[in-house]
Amino acid sequence: MISDRLSAVTTRFETMKPRVYIETFGCQMNVADTERAATGLRSSGYDLCDSVDEADVVLLNTCSVREKAERKVYTRIGEVRAARSGKQDVLVGVMGCVAQLEGASVFDHAPSVDMVIGTRATDRIPLLIERARGGERKLLDLDERGETDSWDVSPAERHSPHVAFIPIIEGCNKFCSFCIVPYSRGRERSRPASEIVAEVKNLQALGYKEIQLIGQNVNSYRPRVDDGLEGFKGATPFCRLLRAVAATGMPRIKFTTSFPRDFHPDIVTAIDENPNLCDWIHLPVQSGSDRILKLMRRGHTRNDYWQRIERIKSSSRRLALTSDIIVGFPGETDEDFCQTLDLVRQCEYDSIYIFKYSKRAGTPAANFTDTVPEKEKTARFLALEEAQRKTQERIYRSYVGRTLQVLVEKQSTRSEHDLSGHSTCNKVVNFAGDRSLEGEIVNVTVTAAKTNSLYGALVNRSAVE
Ligand code: SAH
Ligand code: F3S
Repeated sequence: MISDRLSAVTTRFETMKPRVYIETFGCQMNVADTERAATGLRSSGYDLCDSVDEADVVLLNTCSVREKAERKVYTRIGEVRAARSGKQDVLVGVMGCVAQLEGASVFDHAPSVDMVIGTRATDRIPLLIERARGGERKLLDLDERGETDSWDVSPAERHSPHVAFIPIIEGCNKFCSFCIVPYSRGRERSRPASEIVAEVKNLQALGYKEIQLIGQNVNSYRPRVDDGLEGFKGATPFCRLLRAVAATGMPRIKFTTSFPRDFHPDIVTAIDENPNLCDWIHLPVQSGSDRILKLMRRGHTRNDYWQRIERIKSSSRRLALTSDIIVGFPGETDEDFCQTLDLVRQCEYDSIYIFKYSKRAGTPAANFTDTVPEKEKTARFLALEEAQRKTQERIYRSYVGRTLQVLVEKQSTRSEHDLSGHSTCNKVVNFAGDRSLEGEIVNVTVTAAKTNSLYGALVNRSAVE
């Protein structure tokens, strides 16, 4: 009886908890920040919900890497307010890169915003919400992370029950002339290796099959002390970290993004020697022209980059290779662009992300005057897309008949009879199968190549064993 009453009280209390909805834009770092924010909120007595309609507090975790992404934030704030027009007490907070960069001016653009929460204020979100609920208005926190801030993420808040993101380094010191990230995310700070390895072991015990080590530049990883990496060989702390993480036995380990200048050949040696280090490398080149690379302040030439690609291609396994390219950087001539086209063909990427240059206030390139007209940017975008399409078609077709190991992540969005997952080479692979296979690593023989995915047939387990 007593326990019945207790549970009734608990249920009432549960339903009274304020509910927070977090909407995430942008990169994996933002996804990881949302997971951490949700963990902190839950332990401070909040509930998380899945839509604006149910929420007492709406947090938008924003991206500012290109102008379009930034504009989207203000449109979204308007939509959120319109959806809850009868509920003035719903709090709205802007977190992430737009918050950090624009600070108090977010309140000028969008007066209905209650909180602006910078990229290092994740741990203080529950406190900020409490203050806003207490009646304080226009709260702003752009401060640094606290010494005791936690990286803990509770499994319930992870974006997937099978794949986990582990930030290993925050921020960026590279200051490529076009990029806003060093301003929105601050200087590089690496997490202690012992903490990362402990997190991987923990995730393994929870049944995770894949982890992705993430950071703006994972291979610039440089912790203050090498604690936890003793005994692991490798020319750089990142190479040693890869080996330490591989030694946990976690079935699949991926990492992104790698910075070309810091891409040491030992990374490929570590992959060669550890089958659980997956066969995929994302190495953004941005341009194939030395003149433009210099203006971009990338710290690598076309030849430096190609040498890294040659090492990757000489691996004992075929490593999938992906990249980011910017077209229409200020001053980019037809000749410069042709060099990009040529390099992209030469590298034979499995896929690329192409971006039209977007001017970001406060970056050095924002003062470069020799701009490329929008029409020309579009023409180059399409030409590069077409060149890549041909290479990609060839590469994807070469997988037909091969058997890939696929981590089954979810039901396919296209068909309820199909499952969807990623291969070790990071291709999306769809195949017919039962949902009971979710979370398992299965063998799939590829039967067809689509534009950006592969289709296959599940290999009967007994046929493999
Ligand atoms: N090293 C980072 C890069 C972050 S930005 C990482 O973790 O991926 C991701 C990509 O956006 C960059 O590689 C670049 O191709 C593109 N990008 C960055 N700033 C840009 C700008 N001002 N205009 C167009 N594209 C940009
Ligand atoms: Fe941006 Fe260059 Fe750093 S692209 S994230 S400044 S490596």
